[in-house]
Amino acid sequence: MRIHNYYHGIIFFSLATLLALLFAASTAAARKQGAGWDGKIKMSTSEEEEAPADSTSGVRWAVLLAGSSGHGNYRHQADVCHAYQILRKGGVKDENIVVFMYDDIAHNIENPYPGTIVNHPQGSDVYCGVPKDYTGSDVTVSNFFAAILGDKSSIEGGSGKVVDSGPNDHIFIYYTDHGGPGVLGMPTTDNLYAVDFVETLKKKHAAGTYKEMVIYVEACESGSIFEGLLPEGLNIYVTTASNAQESSWGTYCPGMWPPPPPEYRTCLGDLYSVAWMEDKENLKIETLEDQYIIVKSRTSNHNTYRSGSHVMQYGDMNIVVQELERYLGFNPANENVTTPFLPELNLADTLMAGKELAVNQRDADLLHLWHKYHSAAEGSTRKLKAGEELVNTMAYRMHLDNSVKLIGNLLFGSEAGPSKLNTIRPAGQVLVDDWDCLKSMVRTFESSCGVLTQYGMKHMRAFANVCNAGLDATKMAWVADQACGNRLGPWSPISMGYSA
Ligand SMILES: *[C@@H]1O[C@H](CO)[C@@H](O)[C@H](O)[C@H]1NC(C)=O
Repeated sequence: MRIHNYYHGIIFFSLATLLALLFAASTAAARKQGAGWDGKIKMSTSEEEEAPADSTSGVRWAVLLAGSSGHGNYRHQADVCHAYQILRKGGVKDENIVVFMYDDIAHNIENPYPGTIVNHPQGSDVYCGVPKDYTGSDVTVSNFFAAILGDKSSIEGGSGKVVDSGPNDHIFIYYTDHGGPGVLGMPTTDNLYAVDFVETLKKKHAAGTYKEMVIYVEACESGSIFEGLLPEGLNIYVTTASNAQESSWGTYCPGMWPPPPPEYRTCLGDLYSVAWMEDKENLKIETLEDQYIIVKSRTSNHNTYRSGSHVMQYGDMNIVVQELERYLGFNPANENVTTPFLPELNLADTLMAGKELAVNQRDADLLHLWHKYHSAAEGSTRKLKAGEELVNTMAYRMHLDNSVKLIGNLLFGSEAGPSKLNTIRPAGQVLVDDWDCLKSMVRTFESSCGVLTQYGMKHMRAFANVCNAGLDATKMAWVADQACGNRLGPWSPISMGYSA
């Protein structure tokens, strides 16, 4: 409700501002473009049909996972907590919602309001009541897969809650974090590889323990998780925050529009994630396709792509006509809520404020460190430490970038190296043919050059291209040692504590 009021505030503000008149032309054009929305908002009639049997029989299940840790990544766990609240208000039961989050945010020393988490500048607490099924070192790829498969015996630690679903049930999976080509991040252990995720989904389908499944993924290059990999016919529909070759974006960040309250020095949400979660229309009427159109528009700054990314759809498109209620439940309070013209207002307000709407996931971390540094008292230990953290982080990023570049030059020559590493396969094609090769390339690189980190996941395509060129890990071991052999320099992985 508070979020809803907030937008009323914006509407009033826009109308009351002379500047809004200056944007009248572009606004009118945008409104025309958005005219299709009017048709979408169907009024409920007295003779509403009974919901089809398959939307009411069966159980709704959800798996929510935030793949990061640390206050600089506040936004991912905030997203997951918010998603939980939406499902609860929709009537999905706690016993059917499996939550994975590191859980180091609410009580983080940097959290200005201990014990709470918000996902919007004017938002209320979304942390209260969230089931802590898998936290800390229990947030692992194998527990995530076991939870999806309903495989209690493979779970290690945590609450033991799994998706114990039957053939009539509907499953919603939501993941948010950093990612890279072919991988999604995890807070503690090995990253989640696309091929293993899709294999898990195939297993679940083979077990016959769901009717249909919807998966929403926010991460950089998240399209690469499904592109050329997820077959049709599994009764799974996916949307991702970005295509296979671009960043996804954090939002409600310090210095951007709209900003978080000044005491927060970190982004509160992610652009694609808040777009679907703040789209709270009547979910008995709104379909998956309706939501896709709204989310796509907001995530791309009203389809201008001035900032943001391309929201993508994968899997079985026949599912898109289904009402969201089937997966997220129905909150009677949202019975009459509509979200027309929201993205266009964002655009106008952003232009007025001269501020960015969003920051790409990888820079969001630096933004947090910079604000931490900037806000600390001159001469304080806190400032010194924050400065060191910022410089070390940037130095280590340069180390990773330079090492990968050097490896490309050693493997392919300095002429061809960069283009060989950066080759992007046409849309619809899988990132890499041999996923085992990709995994062993990464391990080999890390053993010489240090851990890839959430930033370094951006280089996954380079490793994939080394595999696609037919080279193996033996060759990588040799060149990685050449590139990163001097392991005792001041910015070496060992001195900086990044050693694999
Ligand atoms: C939605 O609108 C109808 C018709 O005006 C009204 O009867 C109902 O109470 C409204 N629902 C909510 C939750 O405000």
